Amino acid sequence: PENPTKPPLTIRLCQPRGFCAGVDRAIQIVVLALKKYGAPVYVRHEIVHNRYVVEGLQNLGAVFIEELNEIPDDHHECPVVFSAHGVPKSVPADAQARELFYLDATCPLVSKVHKQAMRHQRLGRHVLLIGHAGHPEVIGTMGQLPEGCVTLIETEADVANFEPADPEALGFVTQTTLSVEDTAGLIRALQKKFPEIKAAAAESICYATTNRQEAVKETAPGADLFLIVGAPNSSNSRRLVEVAERAGARMSLLVQRASEIPWDEIAGISTLGLSAGASAPEIIVDEIIDAFRERFEVSVDLAVTATETEDFPVMRVLRDVELTAA
Ligand code: F3S
Repeated sequence: PENPTKPPLTIRLCQPRGFCAGVDRAIQIVVLALKKYGAPVYVRHEIVHNRYVVEGLQNLGAVFIEELNEIPDDHHECPVVFSAHGVPKSVPADAQARELFYLDATCPLVSKVHKQAMRHQRLGRHVLLIGHAGHPEVIGTMGQLPEGCVTLIETEADVANFEPADPEALGFVTQTTLSVEDTAGLIRALQKKFPEIKAAAAESICYATTNRQEAVKETAPGADLFLIVGAPNSSNSRRLVEVAERAGARMSLLVQRASEIPWDEIAGISTLGLSAGASAPEIIVDEIIDAFRERFEVSVDLAVTATETEDFPVMRVLRDVELTAA
């Protein structure tokens, strides 16, 4: 029987949210490799930035490592998967030198940015990468070119301080998971200071990042609280928290699981915005809605702002597994 004292709560559930095609493909690559080659399958770096996903794959026999030298000598025939964020060129080179069998799960949209950076360099341009220092995608993109060929731009101050040898020979690319708004500002600053700067496209922010930010922006105004499901090291998830706050949510929080919801702080809310970063599984969104149902009389409004049809196929060697598994 329903508890008559539960307060009403409207949940504005963003659509699209959660897994993107690149994350989905990366997880499939690990699962299919385990099916085809058996455990263990090594995975360099968290395949996607989500602990729940990582633990699920560990239970199936995946072994997570940070560097290739952690693979024992007698395991060199086991496959090693590179994460969706991409890797510097030195990583596949190192794998080849160690005669490892590797499967590269870099998202095709990240590979595209790598190609754009290389193209700038081929055309004699110094490359500017707009992104966040230390993120694996940034390390991977910078590592496509020899040291010194890429300068990282994080802020407008970086633009102001950057003094290139030849201001007429510059090109830029961006990380795929940035804030659409902040990036537009940085690009304007770059173009103002260096009118000759070349872009492969306006920016390299991916469709999934753009769509998730747009959905949050639409649903945030007037929400008492906005929850984003995602990990603290997930760039695109953290950007969603900022977007919600800027677009008018009274409070906005990143949570990995329902157990992290600060119930005391949020008592009295009547409108909740809810979305999930590109690496966050739908099962946690369900878990969170269930947790709210225990405390509130919930009604869910689905806020649809885009339809996504992107689907990235896995590499050829794993396609036969996919077929027999179906
Ligand atoms: Fe790829 Fe964008 Fe997802 S770059 S991994 S589709 S967040």
